[in-house]
Amino acid sequence: VIVAIDGPAASGKSTVAKALAAHLGSRYLDTGAMYRAVAWRALDAGVALDDEAGLTRLADAATIAFEPTEGGIADRDGGGATHSVPPPERVLIDGNDVTRAIRTPAVDDAVSPVAAAPGVRRAMVAAQRALAEDGDFVVEGRDIGTTVFPDADVKVFLTASSEERARRRTLDMEAGGQAVTAREVGERLERRDHYDSNRAASPLVRADDAVELDTTGLTVDEVVERIAALVPG
Ligand code: DC
Repeated sequence: VIVAIDGPAASGKSTVAKALAAHLGSRYLDTGAMYRAVAWRALDAGVALDDEAGLTRLADAATIAFEPTEGGIADRDGGGATHSVPPPERVLIDGNDVTRAIRTPAVDDAVSPVAAAPGVRRAMVAAQRALAEDGDFVVEGRDIGTTVFPDADVKVFLTASSEERARRRTLDMEAGGQAVTAREVGERLERRDHYDSNRAASPLVRADDAVELDTTGLTVDEVVERIAALVPG
Protein backbone atom coordinates (compact mmCIF):
# COMPACT_ATOMS: atom_id res chain seq x y z
CA VAL A 1 0.00 0.00 0.00
CA ILE A 2 1.29 3.46 -0.93
CA VAL A 3 -0.08 6.55 0.79
CA ALA A 4 0.97 9.73 -1.04
CA ILE A 5 1.06 12.93 1.02
CA ASP A 6 1.67 16.15 -0.88
CA GLY A 7 1.33 19.82 0.00
CA PRO A 8 3.22 23.07 0.48
CA ALA A 9 6.13 23.61 2.87
CA ALA A 10 5.25 23.29 6.57
CA SER A 11 1.67 22.16 5.89
CA GLY A 12 2.27 19.38 8.41
CA LYS A 13 3.35 16.72 5.90
CA SER A 14 6.39 15.37 7.73
CA THR A 15 4.84 15.25 11.16
CA VAL A 16 1.67 13.65 9.85
CA ALA A 17 3.43 11.26 7.47
CA LYS A 18 5.71 9.97 10.23
CA ALA A 19 2.88 9.55 12.72
CA LEU A 20 0.71 7.90 10.06
CA ALA A 21 3.49 5.47 9.13
CA ALA A 22 3.88 4.52 12.80
CA HIS A 23 0.09 4.11 13.10
CA LEU A 24 -0.15 1.90 10.00
CA GLY A 25 3.10 0.02 10.63
CA SER A 26 4.34 1.28 7.24
CA ARG A 27 7.69 2.70 6.32
CA TYR A 28 8.14 6.40 5.67
CA LEU A 29 9.88 8.14 2.76
CA ASP A 30 10.71 11.85 2.95
CA THR A 31 11.36 12.86 -0.68
CA GLY A 32 12.00 16.50 0.28
CA ALA A 33 15.03 15.29 2.24
CA MET A 34 16.40 13.83 -1.01
CA TYR A 35 16.15 17.16 -2.87
CA ARG A 36 17.64 18.85 0.18
CA ALA A 37 20.55 16.38 0.20
CA VAL A 38 21.27 17.09 -3.47
CA ALA A 39 21.13 20.84 -2.75
CA TRP A 40 23.58 20.39 0.14
CA ARG A 41 25.90 18.40 -2.12
CA ALA A 42 25.75 21.10 -4.81
CA LEU A 43 26.65 23.81 -2.28
CA ASP A 44 29.42 21.61 -0.86
CA ALA A 45 30.86 20.79 -4.30
CA GLY A 46 30.53 24.37 -5.56
CA VAL A 47 28.11 23.48 -8.36
CA ALA A 48 26.18 26.63 -9.35
CA LEU A 49 22.43 26.46 -8.75
CA ASP A 50 21.70 27.41 -12.36
CA ASP A 51 24.12 24.84 -13.80
CA GLU A 52 21.51 22.30 -14.81
CA ALA A 53 23.96 19.88 -16.41
CA GLY A 54 26.20 19.99 -13.33
CA LEU A 55 23.26 19.44 -10.98
CA THR A 56 22.00 16.54 -13.09
CA ARG A 57 25.44 14.87 -13.08
CA LEU A 58 25.60 15.25 -9.33
CA ALA A 59 22.08 13.82 -8.83
CA ASP A 60 22.71 10.91 -11.22
CA ALA A 61 25.91 9.97 -9.39
CA ALA A 62 24.55 10.47 -5.87
CA THR A 63 23.69 7.67 -3.49
CA ILE A 64 21.09 8.75 -0.96
CA ALA A 65 20.33 6.51 1.99
CA PHE A 66 18.04 6.66 5.01
CA GLU A 67 19.21 4.90 8.15
CA PRO A 68 17.08 4.34 11.23
CA THR A 69 18.54 5.68 14.46
CA GLU A 70 18.23 3.96 17.80
CA GLY A 71 15.46 6.35 18.82
CA GLY A 72 13.65 5.68 15.58
CA ILE A 73 13.60 1.95 16.15
CA ALA A 74 12.38 2.35 19.73
CA ASP A 75 9.68 4.77 18.61
CA ARG A 76 8.48 2.47 15.88
CA ASP A 77 8.35 -0.51 18.20
CA GLY A 78 6.52 1.51 20.81
CA GLY A 79 4.14 2.84 18.22
CA GLY A 80 3.83 5.92 20.42
CA ALA A 81 3.85 9.62 19.77
CA THR A 82 6.52 9.75 17.09
CA HIS A 83 5.41 13.25 16.14
CA SER A 84 6.88 14.69 19.33
CA VAL A 85 10.43 13.42 18.70
CA PRO A 86 13.16 14.52 16.23
CA PRO A 87 13.38 12.88 12.79
CA PRO A 88 13.93 9.17 13.44
CA GLU A 89 16.06 8.58 10.35
CA ARG A 90 19.53 9.71 9.44
CA VAL A 91 19.95 11.05 5.89
CA LEU A 92 23.17 10.27 4.04
CA ILE A 93 24.36 11.40 0.64
CA ASP A 94 27.47 9.77 -0.75
CA GLY A 95 28.40 8.71 2.76
CA ASN A 96 28.00 12.18 4.35
CA ASP A 97 25.56 12.38 7.26
CA VAL A 98 23.56 15.49 6.35
CA THR A 99 20.60 14.96 8.71
CA ARG A 100 21.05 18.36 10.34
CA ALA A 101 22.81 20.20 7.53
CA ILE A 102 19.83 19.86 5.18
CA ARG A 103 17.57 21.81 7.58
CA THR A 104 19.57 25.06 7.55
CA PRO A 105 18.43 28.32 5.90
CA ALA A 106 21.24 27.95 3.32
CA VAL A 107 19.76 24.68 2.09
CA ASP A 108 16.19 26.06 2.38
CA ASP A 109 17.20 28.75 -0.10
CA ALA A 110 19.13 26.45 -2.45
CA VAL A 111 16.66 23.58 -2.66
CA SER A 112 13.96 25.11 -4.87
CA PRO A 113 16.22 25.83 -7.86
CA VAL A 114 17.82 22.40 -7.45
CA ALA A 115 14.41 20.69 -7.34
CA ALA A 116 13.33 22.62 -10.44
CA ALA A 117 16.06 21.06 -12.60
CA PRO A 118 14.40 18.38 -14.78
CA GLY A 119 17.49 16.14 -14.69
CA VAL A 120 17.56 16.22 -10.90
CA ARG A 121 13.86 15.34 -10.76
CA ARG A 122 14.31 12.44 -13.17
CA ALA A 123 17.08 10.97 -10.99
CA MET A 124 15.15 11.50 -7.74
CA VAL A 125 11.86 10.09 -9.05
CA ALA A 126 13.68 6.93 -10.19
CA ALA A 127 15.41 6.64 -6.80
CA GLN A 128 12.10 7.18 -4.96
CA ARG A 129 10.33 4.49 -6.95
CA ALA A 130 13.19 2.08 -6.24
CA LEU A 131 13.19 2.89 -2.51
CA ALA A 132 9.43 2.42 -2.04
CA GLU A 133 9.06 -0.46 -4.48
CA ASP A 134 8.57 -3.18 -1.87
CA GLY A 135 6.26 -3.04 1.09
CA ASP A 136 3.94 -0.45 2.55
CA PHE A 137 5.03 3.17 2.45
CA VAL A 138 3.83 6.60 3.41
CA VAL A 139 5.58 8.89 0.91
CA GLU A 140 5.60 12.65 1.34
CA GLY A 141 6.57 15.36 -1.12
CA ARG A 142 5.16 17.69 -3.77
CA ASP A 143 4.60 15.42 -6.77
CA ILE A 144 4.02 12.01 -5.21
CA GLY A 145 0.36 11.68 -6.20
CA THR A 146 0.85 13.31 -9.59
CA THR A 147 4.18 11.92 -10.83
CA VAL A 148 6.05 9.52 -8.57
CA PHE A 149 3.15 7.22 -7.64
CA PRO A 150 0.15 8.25 -9.75
CA ASP A 151 -1.48 4.92 -8.82
CA ALA A 152 -1.04 5.39 -5.06
CA ASP A 153 -3.80 3.73 -3.02
CA VAL A 154 -4.46 6.90 -1.05
CA LYS A 155 -3.63 10.48 -2.06
CA VAL A 156 -3.84 13.37 0.35
CA PHE A 157 -3.07 17.03 -0.26
CA LEU A 158 -2.40 18.84 3.02
CA THR A 159 -2.75 22.58 3.41
CA ALA A 160 -2.68 25.04 6.32
CA SER A 161 -2.93 28.82 6.61
CA SER A 162 0.31 30.70 5.95
CA GLU A 163 0.38 31.98 9.56
CA GLU A 164 0.05 28.45 10.88
CA ARG A 165 2.73 27.16 8.53
CA ALA A 166 5.17 29.91 9.58
CA ARG A 167 4.41 29.19 13.23
CA ARG A 168 5.08 25.45 12.83
CA ARG A 169 8.29 25.89 10.85
CA THR A 170 9.59 28.42 13.39
CA LEU A 171 8.99 25.94 16.22
CA ASP A 172 10.76 23.19 14.22
CA MET A 173 13.79 25.38 13.62
CA GLU A 174 13.94 26.55 17.22
CA ALA A 175 13.75 22.93 18.34
CA GLY A 176 16.74 22.29 16.07
CA GLY A 177 18.67 25.02 17.89
CA GLN A 178 18.35 27.71 15.21
CA ALA A 179 17.52 31.30 16.13
CA VAL A 180 14.92 32.59 13.67
CA THR A 181 11.93 34.94 13.66
CA ALA A 182 8.47 33.88 12.50
CA ARG A 183 8.45 36.68 9.96
CA GLU A 184 11.75 35.62 8.35
CA VAL A 185 10.51 32.03 8.26
CA GLY A 186 7.18 33.11 6.74
CA GLU A 187 8.93 35.02 3.97
CA ARG A 188 11.15 32.04 3.14
CA LEU A 189 8.13 29.72 3.00
CA GLU A 190 6.22 32.08 0.70
CA ARG A 191 9.21 32.41 -1.63
CA ARG A 192 9.75 28.65 -1.77
CA ASP A 193 6.07 27.82 -2.36
CA HIS A 194 5.86 30.37 -5.12
CA TYR A 195 8.92 28.87 -6.79
CA ASP A 196 7.75 25.26 -6.28
CA SER A 197 4.25 26.01 -7.60
CA ASN A 198 5.41 27.89 -10.68
CA ARG A 199 8.27 25.76 -11.97
CA ALA A 200 7.83 23.95 -15.30
CA ALA A 201 8.86 20.46 -14.15
CA SER A 202 6.28 18.75 -11.90
CA PRO A 203 5.05 21.86 -10.07
CA LEU A 204 3.28 21.57 -6.74
CA VAL A 205 -0.36 20.87 -7.68
CA ARG A 206 -3.06 18.75 -6.11
CA ALA A 207 -3.74 15.53 -8.01
CA ASP A 208 -7.32 15.44 -9.33
CA ASP A 209 -8.07 12.40 -7.21
CA ALA A 210 -6.35 13.61 -4.01
CA VAL A 211 -8.32 14.36 -0.85
CA GLU A 212 -7.56 17.89 0.31
CA LEU A 213 -7.24 18.38 4.06
CA ASP A 214 -6.73 21.73 5.79
CA THR A 215 -4.75 20.98 8.96
CA THR A 216 -5.09 24.45 10.53
CA GLY A 217 -6.62 23.92 13.95
CA LEU A 218 -6.42 20.12 13.79
CA THR A 219 -4.16 18.08 16.02
CA VAL A 220 -1.69 15.61 14.52
CA ASP A 221 -3.79 12.73 15.84
CA GLU A 222 -6.93 14.12 14.21
CA VAL A 223 -5.21 14.41 10.83
CA VAL A 224 -3.74 10.91 11.17
CA GLU A 225 -7.16 9.47 12.05
CA ARG A 226 -8.76 11.06 9.01
CA ILE A 227 -6.12 9.77 6.63
CA ALA A 228 -6.03 6.33 8.24
CA ALA A 229 -9.79 6.08 7.61
CA LEU A 230 -9.06 6.35 3.85
CA VAL A 231 -6.58 3.46 3.83
CA PRO A 232 -8.10 0.25 2.41
CA GLY A 233 -8.17 -2.96 4.41
O1 DC B 1 9.30 19.08 2.02
P1 DC B 1 10.59 19.89 2.06
O2 DC B 1 10.38 21.29 2.52
O3 DC B 1 11.68 19.22 2.84
O4 DC B 1 11.07 19.95 0.53
C1 DC B 1 12.22 20.65 0.15
C2 DC B 1 12.10 21.17 -1.27
O5 DC B 1 12.15 20.09 -2.20
C3 DC B 1 10.83 21.94 -1.56
O6 DC B 1 11.11 23.33 -1.69
C4 DC B 1 10.31 21.41 -2.88
C5 DC B 1 11.19 20.25 -3.22
N1 DC B 1 10.46 18.99 -3.37
C6 DC B 1 10.01 18.65 -4.63
O7 DC B 1 10.16 19.45 -5.55
N2 DC B 1 9.42 17.45 -4.85
C7 DC B 1 9.22 16.60 -3.83
N3 DC B 1 8.64 15.41 -4.07
C8 DC B 1 9.65 16.93 -2.52
C9 DC B 1 10.26 18.14 -2.32
